[in-house]
Amino acid sequence: MDSTEVFCPAKINLFLAVTGRRTDGFHNLISLMAPLDWGDRLSLAWEGPRGDCRLTCSDPALPVDNSNLARQAASAFDRHHPLPRGVRIDLQKRIPSGAGLGGGSSDAAGVLLGLNRLCGQPFSGERLRMIAAEVGSDCPFFLMEGPAVARGRGEWLEPASPEAARRLRGVRVLLCKPFFGVSTPWAFAALARRENGWMPAETAEERLQKWSSHGEMPWSALLHNDFEPAVFAKFIALEVIKRELADTFGCPVLMSGSGSTLFAVLAPGQDDAPLRDHIRNAYGPNAFVQTAAISLSRP
Ligand code: C5P
Repeated sequence: MDSTEVFCPAKINLFLAVTGRRTDGFHNLISLMAPLDWGDRLSLAWEGPRGDCRLTCSDPALPVDNSNLARQAASAFDRHHPLPRGVRIDLQKRIPSGAGLGGGSSDAAGVLLGLNRLCGQPFSGERLRMIAAEVGSDCPFFLMEGPAVARGRGEWLEPASPEAARRLRGVRVLLCKPFFGVSTPWAFAALARRENGWMPAETAEERLQKWSSHGEMPWSALLHNDFEPAVFAKFIALEVIKRELADTFGCPVLMSGSGSTLFAVLAPGQDDAPLRDHIRNAYGPNAFVQTAAISLSRP
């Protein structure tokens, strides 16, 4: 095989509890994450002599040097399985950065998947997830199929229960992001500065377990993000639009990851046009607005 294409989904966090700070500078978390049927696309091909890695990106604002996680993923793969030739990576970017949608991590995971294919599958899924954890805490999730619960710094993964997966399948969400993004390290630091900023692990596990095993629990019993108070305190517009969307359209709304994307859970068949208009009025005509569905498998 000389070239391959990989779909790199965006994710949302339906539940995100940060349960404490660790001695290695990271934080422990418990999060129910779900991939969407919408995201980036990348193509990989052998090109040039061994050691070459050429990255091109449809978004000229994004760096294509070693700070790009896609390149870091190629280096990580090469450390574990020396690549026989140079590689060319072409990234078609749709997921905005600083959004809490996992775009960079998903691209990195896509590079690992693609290189594994080009090299004739030397690694199992589990081994590939271990390599992904070297690239970023969120990366291993994008090598799972469907919703999963992440623990540790995000790298310990367990597929969502069958009941949770059944309820999440096909659920449509409307994503919206203002012009600004939020830096993940900043959000963790801001959260750590707050008193009672995080949730005890037992409380988080209990809440997740309850929603995951009871078919009748409402969204409000699940949707939670410990980052919201810390991020909303600085970016006041996020709290305002969250409240407006919830009050005007009656849908549950939550920030994804460390922000700045909010997602509204749409009821089956709900028309998203009025929400789009409302968001564009609030954030301006160029605001990022996208409807997507939770998917249980990689297209
Ligand atoms: O793992 P990743 O490189 O994506 O993390 C970026 C930064 O986010 C870390 O350097 C750390 O500051 C913060 N982080 C954290 N706890 C996590 C994940 C990330 O504190 N579980």
